[in-house]
Amino acid sequence: MGFRIVMLGAPGAGKGTQAVRMAQELKVPHISTGDIFRKNLKDGTPLGLKVQGYLNSGGLVPDELTCEIVADRLTWDDCTAGYILDGFPRSIPQAEMLTAFLAKRGEAIDAAINIDVPDSEIVDRLSARRSDPETGAIYNLKFSPPPPEVAGRLIQREDDKAETVLNRLLTYHETTEPIISYYDDLGVLKNVSGANATPDSVFAEVLDVLKTL
Ligand code: AP5
Repeated sequence: MGFRIVMLGAPGAGKGTQAVRMAQELKVPHISTGDIFRKNLKDGTPLGLKVQGYLNSGGLVPDELTCEIVADRLTWDDCTAGYILDGFPRSIPQAEMLTAFLAKRGEAIDAAINIDVPDSEIVDRLSARRSDPETGAIYNLKFSPPPPEVAGRLIQREDDKAETVLNRLLTYHETTEPIISYYDDLGVLKNVSGANATPDSVFAEVLDVLKTL
């Protein structure tokens, strides 16, 4: 049996960067609600139209809609060996829904890995984030520059503009941060320091956490 892992941390803390590596290491799917919403937005689906306003303003998509999508995704065959949840849960109701959903199946989250990075570093990182629309790879113009052959096709996320980043941080502190205590109370919280640390050194810490499970 594989691991069911939740990634916690502010926007830009490096959840996606680490989740991709962990998914490769553990051979389980990386499920990012942000990626699911952005893909629907890009494809112009009815779900994409519904979530557009929330993503562009840096607010949260309503819990009910988000929970419905995740509950469906977790029933896919590739999830039987575990998964890395990135960007979900993001509120206490979402965390409670996940616990209840798993309990009905006799399952539970094995670890909630919280990557801790101060707000000042977050703003700096997000303004320099770029992603590759062909491979999904995440780069940073300052901290992990892209290879020259892909540089021309990289895009910046709409919600990485300075004003939206501040709103995302506000939303994070008000609504998402309380779930750190929620997972601490469940006894599965694992803290990892992501400040002033390269993605490689954060991953080394994450691997140490995985060894304890
Ligand atoms: P989502 O896509 O989940 O965005 P987020 O949580 O704001 O997280 P990010 O993807 O911005 O950051 P990350 O922590 O993954 O960092 P990354 O690895 O890219 O959500 C987007 C929107 O969708 C939300 O605002 C909301 O509207 C909606 N949504 C999603 N889920 C929802 C839910 N459950 N409920 C309701 N609404 C929901 O790294 C950031 C940058 O830093 C990169 O450039 C990277 O290269 C660089 N970097 C990474 N690690 C390091 C390091 N150690 N040192 C230096 N740079 C680093």
